[in-house]
Amino acid sequence: TTTGNAANTQLGFKAVATSSANEVVVPEGYSARPFLPWGTPITGSYPAYKPDGTNTGAEQEQQMGMHHDGVHFFPIDLKAGGNSSSEGLLVMNHEYINQSEIHPTGPNYVAGERPADEVRKEIAAHGVSVVHIKRDTEGTWDIVFGSPFNRRITGNTEMDIRGPARGYSKLVTKYSTDATETRGTLNNCAMGPTPWGTYLAAEENWHGYFANSDANQPREQVRHGVGSSSRYDWELAQGGADQYIRFNVTPGTGTATDDYRNEANTYGYMVEIDPFTPESKPQKRTALGRFGHEGVIFAPVTEGEPVVCYSGDDSRFEYIYKFVSAKPYYAATAGGYLLDEGTLYVARFNDDGTGDWLPLDLNNADFKAKVDAAVGTTVSDIVFDGFENQADVLVNTRLAADIAGATPMDRPEWGAVDPNSGQVYFTLTNNSQRTEAQVNAANPNAENRTGHIIRWSENGDDFTATGFDWDIFVFAGEQGTETVVDDEVIVSLTDDNIFNSPDGLWFDYNGRLWIQTDGSDAAPYQNNMMLAANPETREIKRFFVGPVGCEVTGVTSTPDVKTMFVNIQHPDGNWPDASQSRPRDATVIVTRDDGGVVGA
Ligand code: FEO
Ligand code: CA
Ligand code: CA
Ligand code: CA
Repeated sequence: TTTGNAANTQLGFKAVATSSANEVVVPEGYSARPFLPWGTPITGSYPAYKPDGTNTGAEQEQQMGMHHDGVHFFPIDLKAGGNSSSEGLLVMNHEYINQSEIHPTGPNYVAGERPADEVRKEIAAHGVSVVHIKRDTEGTWDIVFGSPFNRRITGNTEMDIRGPARGYSKLVTKYSTDATETRGTLNNCAMGPTPWGTYLAAEENWHGYFANSDANQPREQVRHGVGSSSRYDWELAQGGADQYIRFNVTPGTGTATDDYRNEANTYGYMVEIDPFTPESKPQKRTALGRFGHEGVIFAPVTEGEPVVCYSGDDSRFEYIYKFVSAKPYYAATAGGYLLDEGTLYVARFNDDGTGDWLPLDLNNADFKAKVDAAVGTTVSDIVFDGFENQADVLVNTRLAADIAGATPMDRPEWGAVDPNSGQVYFTLTNNSQRTEAQVNAANPNAENRTGHIIRWSENGDDFTATGFDWDIFVFAGEQGTETVVDDEVIVSLTDDNIFNSPDGLWFDYNGRLWIQTDGSDAAPYQNNMMLAANPETREIKRFFVGPVGCEVTGVTSTPDVKTMFVNIQHPDGNWPDASQSRPRDATVIVTRDDGGVVGA
């Protein structure tokens, strides 16, 4: 559904001002309506949302989760080659939760343990929602009640491990003694629709869900920052049920088949969900690497050529990756199997504006030589004792990238591919810890508090190329922040477009670039926002401002780009309903009052 039209990237709306109001702001001539807030019943017996927090864990398993994030609209007739803009499956991530708003009071502890149904509810508010939606003749979107496609995937849904790490000893648990399965997906930030009509959900800050009180954590946990206690204390659930104690990854006295020491090794992947096959089991695609996946973006596919996708690791000084499938894409037979074999590369941004994709593949002589030379040395504070096999490389992707010599970036978040030019864009949200000694051309600001957007063209316009040319599309910041190209100021930010901490990034089907922010909401920026950009001219205009305390994250549209869906995450006032006492994450439907194309 991504066919670009270069003629249609102008920005036809009047920019909106910054705002600190507890409401959504859109340009004159546009309307915004909240949709699918946390707790909306979408499946099963459709249990009603209770505004006092008394919905049970079982009810939350049938309702929209919390903290809406990456989202994609799949036209309902996609598999038949259709392009419906009035009916489809809206699939979205629920990144994490507001633990103090999800229960009537709490979170609670009884003699040091968590009430088990509180834990069940918290796990159920994570994951992914698939919602069959349809627009009526008046133009109002609603859920198709009773549709077999409506589905919740949670932090406890059974999943398969696929790719090179399937069956690897470091993924063995009491639950899956042959390392082929796990339960749940967590901290799903951004996502990517695949060229074959499925959805990949990213596992970003999964490390915070696990507790390991052992003094000698394995490198698979140390390199990600697993702590001695977990963010939500799920492992402390009363009754000690297996699905809760698995979040305690402290090794016991037995072997890996007796406990959950390896449970954390079954997280950190891209998870494939087929929304059109409701009974399908989600698949963790280990060939795409294990790190803090922000999301994934696929390059346009060509019949008979490999599938290519890009993924950022959103942590300070982490990397940008590219996967190239071993097998060629054919529309008639394409599927998730294409993501199980291939080469994972990591980006090196050279100071002269060129870049290299460095393979993380033990069959590559250069990488193998670097690995052999690193044995016995200290890499990222870890004494490196080698990789057992390619599965070990992938389970320790960050360490492999360190060894390969990748460029540490200012927190890579979403990526997007321009449907007209083929250029790949990535947001680098900020990195206040970069020192003067650590700056490089691609990350040129010490104490980078406001972030920038980088882009590149693959050599020969071939997405499988191992080299590229990059430049910085724009630096975010206050009024007067300049982006200079060849000694010429190409962008100087004004009241119409100051922004900070770019995060969400998406090209619509015409080729307008949408930029979402997750940054400081202090003056002069005020509430987080979404801007539109013309990739050719670098004109940027603020299009949307969110309510108080939120981040604006996740954007998609119908194929005609006349209905846009924008997610609001962690609002902290009583939004969207001021009469209710709890904030509710929600999707916002944006349309033009004259029925035209959004942004045009
Ligand atoms: Fe979940 Fe990197 O934002
Ligand atoms: Ca977030
Ligand atoms: Ca994000
Ligand atoms: Ca962010």
